[in-house]
Amino acid sequence: MDQISGQGDGFYLVPTGGGVGAEVRGVDLRVVDDATFAAIARAWTEHAVLLFRGQHLTDPDLVAFSRRFGGLDLAPIQETGRRSVQGLPEIYVVSNVIENGAPIGSLGSGEAVWHTDMSYLPEPPKASLLYAVEIPPVGGNTSFVNMYAALEALPEALRRRVAGLRVKHDGTYNSGGYVRQGVAETGDPRTSAGTLHPLICRHPESGREMLYLGRRRNAYIEGLELAESEALLDALWAGMDDPAIGYSHRWQVGDLVLWDNRCTMHRRDAFDPSSRRVMHRTQVKGSAPPSAA
Ligand code: SIN
Repeated sequence: MDQISGQGDGFYLVPTGGGVGAEVRGVDLRVVDDATFAAIARAWTEHAVLLFRGQHLTDPDLVAFSRRFGGLDLAPIQETGRRSVQGLPEIYVVSNVIENGAPIGSLGSGEAVWHTDMSYLPEPPKASLLYAVEIPPVGGNTSFVNMYAALEALPEALRRRVAGLRVKHDGTYNSGGYVRQGVAETGDPRTSAGTLHPLICRHPESGREMLYLGRRRNAYIEGLELAESEALLDALWAGMDDPAIGYSHRWQVGDLVLWDNRCTMHRRDAFDPSSRRVMHRTQVKGSAPPSAA
Protein backbone atom coordinates (compact mmCIF):
# COMPACT_ATOMS: atom_id res chain seq x y z
CA MET A 1 0.00 0.00 0.00
CA ASP A 2 2.35 2.71 -1.12
CA GLN A 3 0.49 4.78 -3.64
CA ILE A 4 -2.07 7.38 -2.62
CA SER A 5 -4.38 9.15 -5.07
CA GLY A 6 -6.52 12.07 -3.97
CA GLN A 7 -10.26 11.67 -4.68
CA GLY A 8 -11.68 14.84 -3.19
CA ASP A 9 -12.18 16.04 0.36
CA GLY A 10 -11.37 13.41 2.97
CA PHE A 11 -11.59 10.47 0.57
CA TYR A 12 -8.58 8.72 -0.80
CA LEU A 13 -7.54 5.40 -2.27
CA VAL A 14 -4.60 3.21 -1.41
CA PRO A 15 -4.10 0.37 -3.91
CA THR A 16 -3.52 -2.98 -2.20
CA GLY A 17 -0.18 -3.41 -3.98
CA GLY A 18 -1.44 -6.78 -5.29
CA GLY A 19 -3.03 -7.59 -8.62
CA VAL A 20 -6.46 -6.23 -7.69
CA GLY A 21 -8.17 -3.91 -5.22
CA ALA A 22 -7.73 -0.72 -3.24
CA GLU A 23 -8.48 0.49 0.27
CA VAL A 24 -10.80 3.48 0.57
CA ARG A 25 -9.93 5.72 3.49
CA GLY A 26 -11.79 8.60 5.04
CA VAL A 27 -15.35 7.33 4.55
CA ASP A 28 -18.02 6.40 7.11
CA LEU A 29 -20.37 4.16 5.14
CA ARG A 30 -23.35 5.15 7.32
CA VAL A 31 -23.28 8.69 5.91
CA VAL A 32 -22.19 8.75 2.28
CA ASP A 33 -23.27 11.78 0.26
CA ASP A 34 -24.01 11.53 -3.46
CA ALA A 35 -20.66 12.94 -4.61
CA THR A 36 -18.73 10.53 -2.40
CA PHE A 37 -20.89 7.64 -3.54
CA ALA A 38 -20.20 8.53 -7.18
CA ALA A 39 -16.45 8.49 -6.42
CA ILE A 40 -16.77 5.11 -4.66
CA ALA A 41 -18.66 3.69 -7.65
CA ARG A 42 -15.95 4.93 -10.05
CA ALA A 43 -13.21 3.48 -7.84
CA TRP A 44 -15.08 0.17 -7.71
CA THR A 45 -15.25 -0.05 -11.51
CA GLU A 46 -11.54 0.78 -11.70
CA HIS A 47 -10.20 -1.44 -8.88
CA ALA A 48 -12.90 -4.20 -8.74
CA VAL A 49 -12.34 -4.85 -5.00
CA LEU A 50 -12.67 -2.05 -2.41
CA LEU A 51 -11.82 -2.33 1.29
CA PHE A 52 -13.28 0.00 3.94
CA ARG A 53 -11.78 -0.52 7.39
CA GLY A 54 -13.08 0.52 10.80
CA GLN A 55 -16.78 0.62 9.93
CA HIS A 56 -19.60 0.41 12.52
CA LEU A 57 -22.51 -0.98 10.53
CA THR A 58 -25.76 -2.40 11.79
CA ASP A 59 -27.51 -4.84 9.46
CA PRO A 60 -29.89 -2.09 8.24
CA ASP A 61 -26.83 0.15 7.59
CA LEU A 62 -25.26 -2.61 5.51
CA VAL A 63 -28.47 -3.09 3.53
CA ALA A 64 -28.88 0.69 3.04
CA PHE A 65 -25.32 1.19 1.73
CA SER A 66 -25.61 -1.90 -0.50
CA ARG A 67 -28.86 -0.54 -2.00
CA ARG A 68 -26.99 2.51 -3.29
CA PHE A 69 -25.59 0.15 -5.98
CA GLY A 70 -29.02 -1.16 -7.03
CA GLY A 71 -31.72 -3.63 -6.00
CA LEU A 72 -30.57 -6.46 -3.75
CA ASP A 73 -30.95 -10.20 -4.23
CA LEU A 74 -32.55 -12.22 -1.48
CA ALA A 75 -29.90 -14.25 0.32
CA PRO A 76 -29.56 -17.81 -0.94
CA ILE A 77 -31.10 -20.43 1.34
CA GLN A 78 -28.50 -21.79 3.75
CA GLU A 79 -27.31 -25.39 3.69
CA THR A 80 -29.60 -26.07 6.65
CA GLY A 81 -32.59 -24.81 4.69
CA ARG A 82 -33.12 -21.64 6.67
CA ARG A 83 -33.01 -18.03 5.51
CA SER A 84 -30.66 -15.75 7.32
CA VAL A 85 -31.26 -12.67 9.45
CA GLN A 86 -34.77 -12.29 10.85
CA GLY A 87 -36.58 -9.47 9.02
CA LEU A 88 -33.66 -8.79 6.64
CA PRO A 89 -33.89 -11.42 3.89
CA GLU A 90 -31.13 -9.70 1.89
CA ILE A 91 -28.47 -10.62 4.47
CA TYR A 92 -26.64 -13.90 4.06
CA VAL A 93 -24.74 -15.04 7.13
CA VAL A 94 -21.39 -16.72 6.48
CA SER A 95 -20.41 -18.41 9.72
CA ASN A 96 -19.21 -21.56 11.44
CA VAL A 97 -20.97 -20.67 14.71
CA ILE A 98 -23.47 -23.20 16.07
CA GLU A 99 -26.31 -21.93 18.25
CA ASN A 100 -28.98 -24.16 19.78
CA GLY A 101 -27.54 -27.08 17.84
CA ALA A 102 -27.83 -25.43 14.40
CA PRO A 103 -25.38 -23.36 12.34
CA ILE A 104 -26.30 -19.67 12.23
CA GLY A 105 -24.80 -19.34 8.74
CA SER A 106 -23.20 -21.07 5.79
CA LEU A 107 -19.83 -22.38 4.62
CA GLY A 108 -18.56 -23.75 7.95
CA SER A 109 -14.84 -23.38 8.76
CA GLY A 110 -13.28 -25.25 5.84
CA GLU A 111 -11.81 -23.80 2.69
CA ALA A 112 -14.27 -22.09 0.35
CA VAL A 113 -12.84 -22.72 -3.11
CA TRP A 114 -12.49 -20.13 -5.89
CA HIS A 115 -15.87 -18.99 -7.16
CA THR A 116 -18.09 -16.22 -8.42
CA ASP A 117 -21.14 -15.77 -6.19
CA MET A 118 -24.30 -17.39 -7.60
CA SER A 119 -23.01 -17.59 -11.18
CA TYR A 120 -25.10 -20.75 -11.54
CA LEU A 121 -28.04 -18.35 -12.07
CA PRO A 122 -28.91 -16.74 -15.43
CA GLU A 123 -28.42 -13.28 -13.89
CA PRO A 124 -25.72 -13.47 -11.21
CA PRO A 125 -25.29 -10.55 -8.79
CA LYS A 126 -22.99 -7.78 -10.00
CA ALA A 127 -21.60 -6.95 -6.57
CA SER A 128 -21.14 -8.57 -3.19
CA LEU A 129 -20.49 -6.75 0.09
CA LEU A 130 -19.03 -8.72 3.00
CA TYR A 131 -18.85 -7.21 6.49
CA ALA A 132 -16.73 -8.68 9.28
CA VAL A 133 -18.69 -9.03 12.54
CA GLU A 134 -16.42 -11.57 14.30
CA ILE A 135 -13.16 -12.99 12.99
CA PRO A 136 -10.88 -15.82 14.15
CA PRO A 137 -7.39 -14.95 15.45
CA VAL A 138 -5.79 -16.78 12.52
CA GLY A 139 -7.01 -18.10 9.16
CA GLY A 140 -10.20 -17.31 7.27
CA ASN A 141 -8.46 -14.85 4.94
CA THR A 142 -10.36 -14.10 1.71
CA SER A 143 -8.45 -13.90 -1.58
CA PHE A 144 -9.51 -12.25 -4.81
CA VAL A 145 -8.32 -12.78 -8.38
CA ASN A 146 -8.56 -10.26 -11.20
CA MET A 147 -10.31 -11.91 -14.16
CA TYR A 148 -9.29 -9.19 -16.63
CA ALA A 149 -5.68 -10.04 -15.80
CA ALA A 150 -6.43 -13.77 -15.87
CA LEU A 151 -7.63 -13.40 -19.48
CA GLU A 152 -4.61 -11.31 -20.45
CA ALA A 153 -2.30 -13.97 -18.97
CA LEU A 154 -3.71 -16.79 -21.14
CA PRO A 155 -1.52 -18.14 -23.91
CA GLU A 156 -2.82 -16.76 -27.22
CA ALA A 157 -3.63 -20.23 -28.62
CA LEU A 158 -5.73 -21.11 -25.56
CA ARG A 159 -7.55 -17.80 -25.73
CA ARG A 160 -8.38 -18.39 -29.40
CA ARG A 161 -9.49 -21.96 -28.62
CA VAL A 162 -12.08 -20.89 -26.03
CA ALA A 163 -13.33 -17.71 -27.72
CA GLY A 164 -17.05 -18.10 -28.40
CA LEU A 165 -17.47 -21.15 -26.13
CA ARG A 166 -19.80 -21.34 -23.15
CA VAL A 167 -19.16 -22.97 -19.79
CA LYS A 168 -21.64 -24.56 -17.38
CA HIS A 169 -21.58 -22.83 -13.96
CA ASP A 170 -22.62 -25.60 -11.62
CA GLY A 171 -25.50 -25.05 -9.20
CA THR A 172 -25.11 -28.32 -7.29
CA TYR A 173 -22.43 -27.42 -4.75
CA ASN A 174 -21.62 -24.22 -2.92
CA SER A 175 -18.01 -23.12 -2.49
CA GLY A 176 -17.76 -24.97 0.83
CA GLY A 177 -18.62 -28.23 -0.95
CA TYR A 178 -22.16 -28.44 0.48
CA VAL A 179 -25.06 -29.50 -1.76
CA ARG A 180 -27.51 -26.66 -2.30
CA GLN A 181 -31.04 -26.98 -1.02
CA GLY A 182 -33.43 -28.76 -3.38
CA VAL A 183 -30.74 -29.81 -5.89
CA ALA A 184 -29.93 -33.41 -6.84
CA GLU A 185 -26.33 -34.30 -5.99
CA THR A 186 -24.32 -35.34 -9.05
CA GLY A 187 -20.72 -35.49 -10.19
CA ASP A 188 -21.62 -35.41 -13.89
CA PRO A 189 -21.13 -31.82 -15.11
CA ARG A 190 -23.00 -32.50 -18.36
CA THR A 191 -26.27 -33.09 -16.53
CA SER A 192 -25.86 -31.12 -13.30
CA ALA A 193 -28.01 -28.08 -12.47
CA GLY A 194 -26.53 -24.78 -13.58
CA THR A 195 -26.35 -22.10 -16.26
CA LEU A 196 -24.20 -21.70 -19.36
CA HIS A 197 -22.29 -18.42 -19.67
CA PRO A 198 -19.72 -17.29 -22.25
CA LEU A 199 -16.14 -18.08 -21.19
CA ILE A 200 -14.95 -14.68 -22.36
CA CYS A 201 -17.26 -11.80 -21.47
CA ARG A 202 -17.24 -8.05 -21.83
CA HIS A 203 -17.82 -6.13 -18.60
CA PRO A 204 -20.90 -3.91 -19.08
CA GLU A 205 -19.40 -0.89 -17.29
CA SER A 206 -15.64 -0.97 -17.90
CA GLY A 207 -16.04 -2.36 -21.44
CA ARG A 208 -13.05 -4.65 -20.79
CA GLU A 209 -12.87 -8.34 -21.68
CA MET A 210 -12.57 -10.86 -18.86
CA LEU A 211 -12.43 -14.59 -18.28
CA TYR A 212 -15.66 -15.84 -16.66
CA LEU A 213 -15.14 -19.22 -14.99
CA GLY A 214 -17.48 -19.30 -11.98
CA ARG A 215 -16.23 -22.41 -10.21
CA ARG A 216 -14.21 -25.47 -11.19
CA ARG A 217 -16.28 -28.29 -9.69
CA ASN A 218 -18.80 -29.72 -12.17
CA ALA A 219 -17.88 -27.12 -14.80
CA TYR A 220 -18.37 -28.22 -18.39
CA ILE A 221 -17.65 -26.57 -21.71
CA GLU A 222 -20.71 -26.89 -23.91
CA GLY A 223 -20.49 -29.22 -26.87
CA LEU A 224 -17.14 -30.86 -26.03
CA GLU A 225 -16.31 -34.42 -25.05
CA LEU A 226 -16.00 -34.51 -21.28
CA ALA A 227 -12.25 -35.28 -21.38
CA GLU A 228 -11.56 -32.35 -23.70
CA SER A 229 -13.68 -30.05 -21.57
CA GLU A 230 -11.79 -31.13 -18.44
CA ALA A 231 -8.39 -30.58 -20.10
CA LEU A 232 -9.34 -27.11 -21.35
CA LEU A 233 -10.79 -26.13 -17.98
CA ASP A 234 -7.65 -27.31 -16.17
CA ALA A 235 -5.58 -25.14 -18.53
CA LEU A 236 -7.85 -22.11 -17.96
CA TRP A 237 -7.76 -22.53 -14.18
CA ALA A 238 -3.99 -23.06 -13.97
CA GLY A 239 -3.16 -19.41 -13.31
CA MET A 240 -5.75 -18.56 -10.64
CA ASP A 241 -3.35 -18.75 -7.68
CA ASP A 242 -0.78 -16.42 -9.25
CA PRO A 243 -0.25 -13.67 -6.62
CA ALA A 244 0.59 -11.21 -9.42
CA ILE A 245 -3.12 -11.10 -10.37
CA GLY A 246 -4.62 -11.39 -6.90
CA TYR A 247 -4.92 -9.99 -3.41
CA SER A 248 -5.36 -11.85 -0.11
CA HIS A 249 -7.29 -10.00 2.59
CA ARG A 250 -6.61 -10.51 6.29
CA TRP A 251 -9.78 -9.42 8.07
CA GLN A 252 -10.29 -7.11 11.02
CA VAL A 253 -13.66 -6.63 12.74
CA GLY A 254 -15.39 -3.67 11.05
CA ASP A 255 -13.94 -4.33 7.58
CA LEU A 256 -16.35 -4.09 4.68
CA VAL A 257 -15.14 -5.51 1.38
CA LEU A 258 -17.08 -4.74 -1.78
CA TRP A 259 -16.19 -6.74 -4.86
CA ASP A 260 -17.25 -6.75 -8.47
CA ASN A 261 -18.68 -10.23 -8.84
CA ARG A 262 -18.25 -10.22 -12.62
CA CYS A 263 -14.54 -9.48 -13.08
CA THR A 264 -13.21 -11.14 -9.91
CA MET A 265 -13.44 -14.51 -8.21
CA HIS A 266 -12.75 -15.15 -4.53
CA ARG A 267 -11.89 -17.97 -2.15
CA ARG A 268 -11.56 -18.30 1.62
CA ASP A 269 -8.90 -20.08 3.68
CA ALA A 270 -9.94 -22.63 6.28
CA PHE A 271 -9.68 -21.68 9.96
CA ASP A 272 -9.81 -23.37 13.35
CA PRO A 273 -13.36 -24.70 13.78
CA SER A 274 -13.26 -23.96 17.51
CA SER A 275 -12.90 -20.21 16.86
CA ARG A 276 -15.78 -17.99 15.75
CA ARG A 277 -16.16 -16.25 12.40
CA VAL A 278 -19.33 -14.27 11.61
CA MET A 279 -19.66 -12.31 8.37
CA HIS A 280 -22.74 -10.65 6.89
CA ARG A 281 -23.07 -10.45 3.11
CA THR A 282 -25.38 -8.65 0.71
CA GLN A 283 -25.56 -8.95 -3.05
CA VAL A 284 -26.56 -6.40 -5.68
CA LYS A 285 -28.64 -7.69 -8.58
CA GLY A 286 -26.92 -7.97 -11.94
CA SER A 287 -28.75 -5.82 -14.47
CA ALA A 288 -28.04 -8.33 -17.23
CA PRO A 289 -26.10 -11.55 -17.63
CA PRO A 290 -22.46 -10.96 -18.62
CA SER A 291 -22.40 -10.74 -22.40
CA ALA A 292 -20.06 -12.55 -24.74
CA ALA A 293 -17.07 -10.44 -25.76
C1 SIN B 1 -18.16 -15.86 0.20
O1 SIN B 1 -17.74 -16.71 -0.54
O2 SIN B 1 -18.99 -15.05 -0.17
C2 SIN B 1 -17.65 -15.79 1.62
C3 SIN B 1 -16.19 -15.54 1.67
C4 SIN B 1 -15.68 -15.52 3.08
O3 SIN B 1 -16.23 -16.20 3.95
O4 SIN B 1 -14.69 -14.84 3.32
